[in-house]
Amino acid sequence: MGVVGSGLMGSGIAEVCARAGLDVLIAEVDLGATEAAKARIATSLGRGVRSGKLSESDRDAALDRMRFTTDVADFADRNLVVEAVAENEQVKTDVFTALDKVVEDPDAIFASNTSSIPIMKLGMATSRPEQVIGVHFFNPVPVLKLVELVPSLLTGQQTQDRARDFVTTVLGKEVIRSQDRAGFVVNALLIPYLLSSIRMLESGFASAEDIDSGMVLGCAHPMGPLRLTDLIGLDTTKAIAESMYDEFKEPLYSPPPLLLRMVDAGLLGKKSGRGFHNYAG
Ligand code: 3HC
Repeated sequence: MGVVGSGLMGSGIAEVCARAGLDVLIAEVDLGATEAAKARIATSLGRGVRSGKLSESDRDAALDRMRFTTDVADFADRNLVVEAVAENEQVKTDVFTALDKVVEDPDAIFASNTSSIPIMKLGMATSRPEQVIGVHFFNPVPVLKLVELVPSLLTGQQTQDRARDFVTTVLGKEVIRSQDRAGFVVNALLIPYLLSSIRMLESGFASAEDIDSGMVLGCAHPMGPLRLTDLIGLDTTKAIAESMYDEFKEPLYSPPPLLLRMVDAGLLGKKSGRGFHNYAG
């Protein structure tokens, strides 16, 4: 299989696939991004070893199963590709068009990890929309069990069955099915909640610490909404909100000004060292 893009989600997807015994080819734009992905995967596998979930030999075998390239033409022999590039429609459709040209297997599956962009648009960027499907993982991918399976109006039944088998039998994850609507099931519920917490902070209603403590201590969530937004990435949260707003025109999906300004400022959350909380040092 192949993974295009190895940011937070792509590197997690590559890791779980390699741990499941698959030969994984990972495409990145340049060597800098490739090195960052290798470091991220090594750190995550190290956590697996430290927590006793992975032996050192299994870690080494997983690392051996992953190869990197900066040339998407190397995907010619892949049977399954998962796209996990930035949440931007043009960038994603360009990837699908390029994959359609190079992947030789006529039965290959083209999956997207998009959280909000219509699968139909990605399918129509190829000559084989019946083989295009949304396979949406959750962050951190090695830890969270869920995958949303999202067929478009044109996705074939065989593609749906094979994608489900890949996620459940090969990767050991749980599937829920969603129609091809921006946000699917989980983000349609989660994003308005995260945006509400940002509006609450923006209006001076409560501090970031108190908003997060409220949901951790009062509702037993593993992390509060602002810390979760930091984990997802403020840029990604904004992109998902914008796709959902574009689709439904509901004010509750509209990204609040504080989120927009923080993205402009490069305060992207955990990955940049600062978001609603500080992660430096
Ligand atoms: N890789 C591998 N293992 C990891 C890991 C990683 N990146 N992060 C955590 N783990 C493992 C740890 O080793 C630990 O294992 P153990 O219990 O056997 O020791 C276990 O997971 C718990 O981790 P920690 O003890 O370090 O930390 P926490 O208990 O604080 O949990 C968390 C961290 C797993 C991130 C937890 O806070 C959590 O689940 N938060 C909510 C995350 C969430 O909601 N994600 C969904 C985001 S939405 C999304 O992804 C969709 C997209 O479209 C936006």
